Parts: sequence; structure tokens; C-alpha cells
Amino acid sequence: MKVEPVAWREGVVAILDQTQLPERVVIEEFDDWRGVAEAICAMKVRGAPAIGIAAAYGLALAARQIQANTIDAFRAVFGEVCAAFAQTRPTAVNLFGAIERLQRVVAQSHTPDEARERLLSEARAIQREDYEADHAMAERGAALLPPNARVMTICNTGALATGGIGTALGVIRVAYEQGKLQRVYACETRPRLQGLKLTAWELLQEGVPFEVIADGAAGTLMAQGKVDAVLAGADRIAANGDTANKIGTYTLAVLAHYHRIPFYIVAPETTIDPATPDGASIPIEYRDSTEITHLGGLQIAPTGAPALNPAFDVTPASLITAIVTEKGVYRTPYRFGLPVAR
Ligand code: MRU
Repeated sequence: MKVEPVAWREGVVAILDQTQLPERVVIEEFDDWRGVAEAICAMKVRGAPAIGIAAAYGLALAARQIQANTIDAFRAVFGEVCAAFAQTRPTAVNLFGAIERLQRVVAQSHTPDEARERLLSEARAIQREDYEADHAMAERGAALLPPNARVMTICNTGALATGGIGTALGVIRVAYEQGKLQRVYACETRPRLQGLKLTAWELLQEGVPFEVIADGAAGTLMAQGKVDAVLAGADRIAANGDTANKIGTYTLAVLAHYHRIPFYIVAPETTIDPATPDGASIPIEYRDSTEITHLGGLQIAPTGAPALNPAFDVTPASLITAIVTEKGVYRTPYRFGLPVAR
């Protein structure tokens, strides 16, 4: 089954509702941009690159809904829609990169009709480029793994999270196709369980040997010598290489460092944010405490128990063995900063 988290279908944005996986495969079609923005907030579509693609198509959809006769009137409303999409999720920088790209298109357009047409082409280009980047980084990442590799991963970084085969999970898929991969340990990834629900769903379809583990089991498997590499995705990579990713990634990096296991971040260049100097400057999303206190809609904590729910953490660059993108394999010291104006 071809996994496509977001698609443009004759004037509607189709989103594979990831909150219903693995039980049901439901594709929801949106003919109003507000529905797309809500789908991002509710994590029906998630994963940094897929969020960027969904926002891009959402903006292309909004362009068709905007009633404006002049480009100035169009730009004013389009700006408000961009601001609404920028509010959906704060950490994944691909969202903001996509919004900026589409805003540039509108700035360069002369009529609303020209903008509408060019916005859709640009959204399609963002999806296509992500597809191509995934394949390139998968090849580079697979080359870093030893024969018969046993790798640990977190969250879901597969086709569900991107425009292609995924980032860290794309590496896993290609390494498996190359006969280099023995086994995957997929951290369940509390509280939203993207590892248990989504990564397991994808790995089953690919026939890749894996086991889901409780997040707390990662250290003991490393201590037992069962892990050759940790592969994680990224939601934002700061100029100095500090990387925000799903909560629990930092814990894996510390454990990997202690056990002398290579820790790799796999992400497209669109996840690098040269304007953010370091991890401390990355905005971290805090989500509703019910994601902790409830499981599948059922309350599991005692009534009144407070919960704190940071959705992401920051892994310092010093703990990252290499950052793999479609353009290269970067190692410390990472210098992704904006070029200095002379
Ligand atoms: O909250 P999510 O599910 O959107 O978080 C996703 C992750 O943290 C992924 O690891 C990251 O976006 C990289 S996905 C290619």
C-alpha cells in the first residue's frame, strides 16, 4: 500500500488521518483551509516534513477560497491565513519554511489568478522535493550502518511523516533492502505512541524485522550490546547542530553516548533553521496534559493528577555523531548559520 499522508485531489486536500491508525485507514478530504489547519493541530497529519506539505496545500486551497479582485486585497487575506497556519504547531520548522516559500510566490504574483496557479505548483514542488530528499538521505544514512545492523529509533519518521519514504525510517527501509539490517527496536514513544502505532504499522507493511519496546527499555538493550546505532528524525536543527525532536530523543542520545553507540539525526535540509542559533532558542510545543493522563480516550491517572507534556526535547550537537541530509553527512562542529553579510 502506498502511504501518502497528504495529497492534492482536484481542489481538495486529502489527509490520511493518523489519529485513527493502525485500526482504520481513513482519508479525510478538506475543501476549506481551516479544516487543514485543524488537522495539523489535532495531529491527523504530523511529522515535520508532512506538516510543511499539508500547510502548503492548505494555503493553495485558501488561495481558491479568497474572494479578491486585486492582488493587494488577495495578499492581505492570504497573510491572515498564513498567520493562522503559523499558529498550528510551533516546533517543526518545515511549517514555517513552507509558509515563507508560499508567501514569496504571492509577493511575486501580479494577479490573484496567477497567485492561485503558482501557489499550487509551489506546494507540489515542496512535496516532490521532499520525496527526492528522502531517497538521497536514505542512501547516505544506510551507508553509515555496519553489516547486520541492529538499530533503535523513536517516534514515526516514515512515509507517514514526509513526502517520500521517510527520514530515519527511510534509512532503515533502504538498509533493509540492501540486506544490511538485522533488526529495529522501535521505541513506543509515549504519550502519543507514534512508535507503537505508526512505525510498527509501516514496518509491518515493509516486512522489516522489528520489536516495539517501552521507552524505558532503551538503556537496558544498549547495555546488553544489542544496539549498533540510534537513528532519529528532527523537527528543527539549529545553526549549531542542536536538534529538537520528539520527547525522549535526548534521553536516547545520552544513553547512546554513555554506551558509545553512534547517534544519527536524519532530516532534509528544510529542517535546518540557520536563523535559530542554538537549541535554547527553539520553541518547544507543550501539549494538553490529557495526552499523559488518558490513553485512547480512557482516563488512566487519578482524577486531579497534574501532568506536564513537552512534546519535544533538544539534543545538544555534542551528542550527535552525524546529521544526515540529502546533501551530505555533517559532523561536529556543525555550522548551519546564515552566511555573514560582507
Ligand atoms: O509530534 P510529531 O508526531 O509531529 O513529531 C514528529 C517527530 O518528532 C519526528 O521525529 C520528526 O518530525 C521527524 S519526522 C520525519
